Amino acid sequence: NKKGFIFDLDGVIVDTAKYHFLAWQNLAKSIDIDFTHEQNEQLKGVSRVKSLEKILEWGNKTISEELFTSLMGKKNEEYLSFIAKMTDEEILPDVPRVLDYLIEKAQPISLGSASKNARPILEKVHLLSKFNAIVDGNDVSKAKPNPEVFLIAAQHLNMKPEDCIVFEDSVAGVQAANTANMISIGIGEKEVLHEADYIFSDFTEIENSFIEELINR
Ligand code: BG6
Ligand code: MG
Repeated sequence: NKKGFIFDLDGVIVDTAKYHFLAWQNLAKSIDIDFTHEQNEQLKGVSRVKSLEKILEWGNKTISEELFTSLMGKKNEEYLSFIAKMTDEEILPDVPRVLDYLIEKAQPISLGSASKNARPILEKVHLLSKFNAIVDGNDVSKAKPNPEVFLIAAQHLNMKPEDCIVFEDSVAGVQAANTANMISIGIGEKEVLHEADYIFSDFTEIENSFIEELINR
């Protein structure tokens, strides 16, 4: 039995959601826009361009194309400065255990992330070699909640969408998985991720026996 296991990156594999938040918050402040935790929740899983568009919309601001490009660059620069200091300790709890269990069971594994920084981050925390395929922000034209990223991942794994399982921490990502006709597993808060087929607060709650059940579904 084989299923395709697709993992989001930020907030699922590594604890980078906090760095995205800090970088967006600093950027918003620099153009006099208040940026709240609830708003940040809506930016999880959302591409860099779309995120800035939303922040400007919330702040009722229109800016030139040039400033837009330079702000995006600035955000990513600050984000990358946080990433540069990352260590393996920022891999979220029990993620390696689940990845290794899937590898032991010969299950195909793909990344399905909106980030354009996915490869360097996975390299930095020494997880890149665990993946059979990497699909990230460089490969897609339609951002989550559009299912494109997960559908491409399924293709790379040679699996039908209905035989794929997606781990996601964002509302947009859960919606993308559901639209792709995949099983969605929300990692985070029940109240936020209620559209997911299953919800766990983190991977420590996901037992090998549950993974086994998913494989044999
Ligand atoms: C997603 C994050 O994984 O990637 C978003 O949840 C982020 O917060 C998006 O905006 C794009 O990432 P990056 O690294 O290309 O700016
Ligand atoms: Mg995420």
